[in-house]
Amino acid sequence: MAHPRTMCCRKIIRRISWGMCSRLSRAAQAGRSAPSPSPIRRPSPLRRRTPSATIWSASGWAAGRSSSSHCSPTIKSSTRGGRSMAETILTPPLPDYGGPHQPGITDPVWPATAPEGVGEAQYDALYAGQLERQRHLHVITADVASRTREDLSDLLCELTKFAKRQMAKLPPKDTQRPYDAPVVTRRVTVTVGFGATLFTTLAGDDRFNLAARRPASLKVMPQIDGDEGFHPRDHATDLVILVSSDDYYVNEYIFGRLYYRGVHPDIRVRSVERGYARPDSREPSGFEDGITNPRDCTAPSSMHDVVYVRAEDSEPDWCAGGTYLAYRKIRRRMKRFFDLSPTAQESVFGVEKKSGTRLEPLDAHSHVAKINPRRTNHLDLFDMDDLERRFLRRPYFFDDGLDAAGEELRGLHHLSFARNLGAQYEWPVLMWQTNPDFPVPGAGIDNLYGTGGASNIAGGYYFMPAAASGDDHLGTRLGL
Ligand code: HEM
Repeated sequence: MAHPRTMCCRKIIRRISWGMCSRLSRAAQAGRSAPSPSPIRRPSPLRRRTPSATIWSASGWAAGRSSSSHCSPTIKSSTRGGRSMAETILTPPLPDYGGPHQPGITDPVWPATAPEGVGEAQYDALYAGQLERQRHLHVITADVASRTREDLSDLLCELTKFAKRQMAKLPPKDTQRPYDAPVVTRRVTVTVGFGATLFTTLAGDDRFNLAARRPASLKVMPQIDGDEGFHPRDHATDLVILVSSDDYYVNEYIFGRLYYRGVHPDIRVRSVERGYARPDSREPSGFEDGITNPRDCTAPSSMHDVVYVRAEDSEPDWCAGGTYLAYRKIRRRMKRFFDLSPTAQESVFGVEKKSGTRLEPLDAHSHVAKINPRRTNHLDLFDMDDLERRFLRRPYFFDDGLDAAGEELRGLHHLSFARNLGAQYEWPVLMWQTNPDFPVPGAGIDNLYGTGGASNIAGGYYFMPAAASGDDHLGTRLGL
């Protein structure tokens, strides 16, 4: 693990300009245990009605535009049932297609300022800084059957071209009927990551002569308390491909191309997981999840401090601009959770259900206390304070029906992105969340995994390289 000091996170975090997230930032910096209530304005039912009724403006679909500029109003006039209708409809924000990082790591976010012609007060209250998550996620894992570096290079070249093509595609016009809302973008992202076994196989084989170039904290995910019949070594794969879009069929199409080896014959798909987003960012038991996430509100973005590897980090040079992914598929036994009283449910998470505010006093083994205690004026033995050990979360639901025993099989695909996997993700998970003696002897592990009925059933660690620019492919900077 790279020495956590190399991240210089404390200085960085203090420099963050949160834009509209500034209230949270100030509370966090002040070390207050409770995040200020609703740093990101809470979604209202009004906003929640928009997705199905949305009419998307054609001006929004152009790969290469930055996330701060792709929201524009459309005046739509039409006649339905003899009545004339005029509406202002906003194009949903696009993923960041033009940046140095692969799209599909951060969620699309509504820009901080209202576009021209849109009421500022309403925009500010209902849109600015809010996530407009792509609706569907497929997590595809695959192994590489190539035998030589040249073949691997060819594979990554084809995969990069395929990903770029899918992200740039326009929805076909000829399938759209005249009175349907025009569909101008599916907001597709295809995001590729490398597993530790691409660098050295489980048997220790440096088959592509890449062992020396492995990202510093990339390894096979360790087994932890809370894993249920899940042995991470058995799930370790060479590649992960995250596919997100607003249309399930689009994800399935992309999966099919990979699965049937239409992209490259050496890509051997090992697994596919399917998830969907709940538009109001609540997790399966109705608590808002992600309130305390770093947000990409205004420049300079906090993502650059928390998520993306920098040139000065103790990483091989090709890693700059990339990020680590820790993926866990987490099963929730909902009946067990809903059998708890409302107060006991809140104490599992350690937050008020309505406001998302941290409870005072906080149970030592509640989820938020265990995953980030946010201690005031506390530096650990690596001279880091708790807020420096944060990461970006991008959870999606899954519903896999019933298991063999007739029990519901549902929960979250929990995607976490961090600039330093060791310091920001593994430390909180191993030293805090699953350490029964943290913060006090006998506290127990995270109560979400105890009373809350959660367990890990799949997952893995990966490194997502920076976007490939120009004619480069995703392995070019790796030396391939
Ligand atoms: C089914 C699984 C999970 C559910 C339903 C869940 C839900 C929540 C909720 C409701 C919050 C409070 C709101 C917020 O701060 O965003 C929260 C906070 C958080 N969760 Fe989870 N979570 C899950 C699993 C995980 C896992 C596996 C991790 C990491 C290993 C994690 C990391 C965090 C972090 C870092 C916070 C913020 C703590 C803070 O800085 O205050 N969560 N989670």
